Amino acid sequence: MGTGTGTRRPLVWAHRGASRQAPENTIAAFALAERIGADGIELDTQLCASGEAIVFHDESLGRTTGFAGLVAETPWSTIRELDAGARFDARFAGERVPLLEDALAATKLLVNVEIKSDRRDDRGLTATVLAAVRRTGSASRVLLSSFNPFCLLRARAQEPSLPRALLFERDATFLLRHGLSAPALGVVALHPEDGLATDQAVARWRRRGYAVSPWTVDDPVRAVALHRAGASGIITNVPDRLLQAFAART
Ligand code: G3P
Ligand code: MG
Repeated sequence: MGTGTGTRRPLVWAHRGASRQAPENTIAAFALAERIGADGIELDTQLCASGEAIVFHDESLGRTTGFAGLVAETPWSTIRELDAGARFDARFAGERVPLLEDALAATKLLVNVEIKSDRRDDRGLTATVLAAVRRTGSASRVLLSSFNPFCLLRARAQEPSLPRALLFERDATFLLRHGLSAPALGVVALHPEDGLATDQAVARWRRRGYAVSPWTVDDPVRAVALHRAGASGIITNVPDRLLQAFAART
């Protein structure tokens, strides 16, 4: 997985797929990211009530599918029937919530698998994610990321060779939001909220040897500035715009 350092442009990660133009976290959004020429996709995964790892961002199914229920309380037999595309645009009616395994198999791109769990014990999510990566033979294309340090530690213990990234935001504890927990977590990359990615911070993290991919950056001018500051990747909803901006610079 390239770091983007000193290169013409950073890695462009399509956040939840090409989610400005297609419904987030769907196969359609991942396929579009591939057609656009993104280097990788970012997707969110969590466990549904029957134990499958599904690709979905919110705790509730409502916003994107219209179904009044929580992911953790709804079995796959129900979720698999939901329409994850029509609320975005009628053109995407019939698009489904994918299983992680199907999403991994459906793309050739790099995949940043964000493990979404607020729980210390994670109910087996990390182990289920690792099994999906193994079954699909996608280990060479996968970067695991999480806001949850326990998930990162669990992934390190269970599958040490799979690269991991620490996600953090402004509200995180001091140690997390300055990337200071990274050595203890054994991550190769830091994924800060864009507001934390000052030039100084990016340079410091890069000096310490981490790949750095801020999120979510949709302004091409900001993306170019981040690359100048040393960012090795950018996580964006609009990979097409960022790729155009980077291409225009050469
Ligand atoms: O990978 C960055 C980003 O996905 C983190 O925030 O809430 O969009 O999953 P969120
Ligand atoms: Mg995410």
